[in-house]
Amino acid sequence: MRGLSGQGVLVSGGTSGIGLAAARRFLEEGCRVFVTGHEAEPLEQALEELGDAGELAGGLLLDVRDHEAVCTVIDAADEACDGLTVLANNAGIARRTPFLQIDGDDWREVLEVNLTGMFTVGQAFARKLVAGDRTGAIVNMASTNALGGEEDYAHYNASKGGVLQLTRSMAVELGGHGIRVNALCPGYIDTPLNTGIAGGMGPGFADRYARERIPLGRVGRTDEVAAAYAFLASDEASFVHGTTLVVDGGQLAVM
Ligand SMILES: NC(=O)c1ccc[n+]([C@@H]2O[C@H](COP(=O)([O-])OP(=O)(O)OC[C@H]3O[C@@H](n4cnc5c(N)ncnc54)[C@H](O)[C@@H]3O)[C@@H](O)[C@H]2O)c1
Repeated sequence: MRGLSGQGVLVSGGTSGIGLAAARRFLEEGCRVFVTGHEAEPLEQALEELGDAGELAGGLLLDVRDHEAVCTVIDAADEACDGLTVLANNAGIARRTPFLQIDGDDWREVLEVNLTGMFTVGQAFARKLVAGDRTGAIVNMASTNALGGEEDYAHYNASKGGVLQLTRSMAVELGGHGIRVNALCPGYIDTPLNTGIAGGMGPGFADRYARERIPLGRVGRTDEVAAAYAFLASDEASFVHGTTLVVDGGQLAVM
């Protein structure tokens, strides 16, 4: 895609699922890519897997709840990429719990990773660009759960709704610095996160869900979300700013 080749890209949560596919796509586009994840083994596997796909700049362990670590890792990624310009702000978790059973720890964990973590990484990245007088693009990962209140996901829904407002606020304040900021809202995508949740929902859950709720009749693939990341980060989206791209097979179009 236009304008991607040669960019320095940081993918947070780039060791699994959508983030891993996005890292692969950015490498295929000729970017220098740095990935982070919060667990050692998947990070090692991802680095091995991505090594062949292009100019991998490296990867590090990172818990996005740790503000100091975020700043250290952004510095390291910036150096390894010879200047970051794109952030796929992707790290996130999901828990399926009925509203009446969510306790304070569950609530705080989901909000801290999905919303506060996204703020922390986005701010550290933007500060780096502004300090270096560099333009760029940030894509924040929200969800269709930011736009509808799926049952048993109150904490997740609230965190992703917050990501949309964070995205608009960042767009308003960072546009003047030449940093475009947008959000992605995928629907049901086949990833380890969903495999874990579907496992507790009985056999055939994903197929049933797709048949009953998704007009295209199937769940999404990680490469389909990776393509949306690449588009929003590229010059093809040079006037797309402060908005949301839904990638859901038509799920939100159903009445
Ligand atoms: N899978 C879907 O259907 C779907 C739909 C909409 C949005 N999303 C969002 O996409 C993103 C990726 O989801 P996925 O399905 O690929 O999940 P996944 O579990 O396959 O990958 C999650 C990634 O986030 C990282 N991560 C988790 N907790 C972290 C923490 N505390 N600090 C730093 N990194 C952490 C993991 O290391 C991993 O790399 C999430 O933000 C998720 O909410 C997923």
